[in-house]
Amino acid sequence: MAAFTSSSAVDLRLLPYDIAATKAHAHVLNHAGFLDDDELDAIESVLTRLLDEWQNGDVRDTGSDEDVHSLVERVLTEELGEAGRRIHAGRSRNDLVATDLRLWCRDAATEAADALARFIELLSQLAEQHTDTVMPGYTHLQRAQPVSLGFHLLAHGFALVRDAKRFRAAYESADVSTLGAGALAGTTLDLDPYIATQKLDVTRTFDNAMDAVSDRDFVADLVYACALCGVHLSRLAEEVVLWTSSEFGFARLSDSWSTGSSMMPQKRNPDVAELTRGRAAIVIGDLTALLTVLKGLPLAYNRDLQEDKAIVFRAHDATVGCIEAMTALVASITFDPTTMADAAMSGSTWATDLAEVLVTRGVPFRDAHEMVGRLVADLEGTGAAATASWLASHEGFQPEDVFVLDRREVVSRRGSRGGTAPNRVLEQIEQLRAAINDACMRK
Ligand code: ARG
Repeated sequence: MAAFTSSSAVDLRLLPYDIAATKAHAHVLNHAGFLDDDELDAIESVLTRLLDEWQNGDVRDTGSDEDVHSLVERVLTEELGEAGRRIHAGRSRNDLVATDLRLWCRDAATEAADALARFIELLSQLAEQHTDTVMPGYTHLQRAQPVSLGFHLLAHGFALVRDAKRFRAAYESADVSTLGAGALAGTTLDLDPYIATQKLDVTRTFDNAMDAVSDRDFVADLVYACALCGVHLSRLAEEVVLWTSSEFGFARLSDSWSTGSSMMPQKRNPDVAELTRGRAAIVIGDLTALLTVLKGLPLAYNRDLQEDKAIVFRAHDATVGCIEAMTALVASITFDPTTMADAAMSGSTWATDLAEVLVTRGVPFRDAHEMVGRLVADLEGTGAAATASWLASHEGFQPEDVFVLDRREVVSRRGSRGGTAPNRVLEQIEQLRAAINDACMRK
């Protein structure tokens, strides 16, 4: 029974938070007259020493405590006798574990948002360097229109900044103390839960004790933020895999962030990107697991809830690990601007821009689309080189329209809001930096 039900091997990670919550509860009890000042001091100093031991790596799971909360209470009782035996008045492990986990989730969300901020800053710097590096933009994985590498990298940056905002929202949803809820129904003791919120530097206290011990929305919010972030990292990882393949040849992995093959001496494999793609699958599974744990639970506390910790710890560790690894991977990539530009301009990717030239001369777009379509067919049929004179030899086109064949020009003339023109890309970098500054919690 003990081996099957114990959670200490997993939830020992909550020890610093259980110590903080227990100190806060000791203040609540002291204020209400259930612990005298000497007992409060003694409890605080034992807990401070326990935290030191934890930070030195000296607290280990011995398998003899059912969970981290039992461990802390046992230490207090062993060290202090009666004062230790008073600490659990007016509280339950049900309200305690909810507060511990809320405090952990706040730190976890902060860590993830900070890691994202560093990655987004890297993408911004690369975007600044590559406003003129032209590559093909794709739809259906077919070359569609030339874009800049900076523009493309920023598209990933904007997805990741939304993730940082979701982590910030997850922080806010966790930012509640449930101490004082007791097992499910409050307490007959006259305890002030606001003392705990102050001691824990938490913004709010709970409203309904039964909800307080049953609610794991804050865990779901964090795991969802992890899962969607994992999806975004996985899409970027997939592009790294494509770009660094010989088929694309757009970029080269560094030696230190690629792996060799045990058999094929020439290999330079994108394992970090592939593992990021793979781990996103695990985190998506974690979100499903958590929601499934919650969906059938009658109020209030049920032991199923113990499983939430392994889930959220794993989802968070995997996500932060992927953010950090992808940051290092992308930082170490060398791009090949010539191959990218050649690919960008092959296959008449300028056709849409040319049709828009005709629109500026008053041609209805559908007619322009047909005219350019005929031009492209001619090029493909005769194998003619696309030049100014070739262009002007077709009815309705003029020699200066040849700018569409100039890769820099064609990218820089797409100056609409959010477009590919370098000045627009610089504007987007500023927007991205402002957004990450807003979302970031540790300034
Ligand atoms: N280890 C438990 C958990 O993580 C703590 C709460 C136990 N409460 C109980 N009534 N058995 O959920």
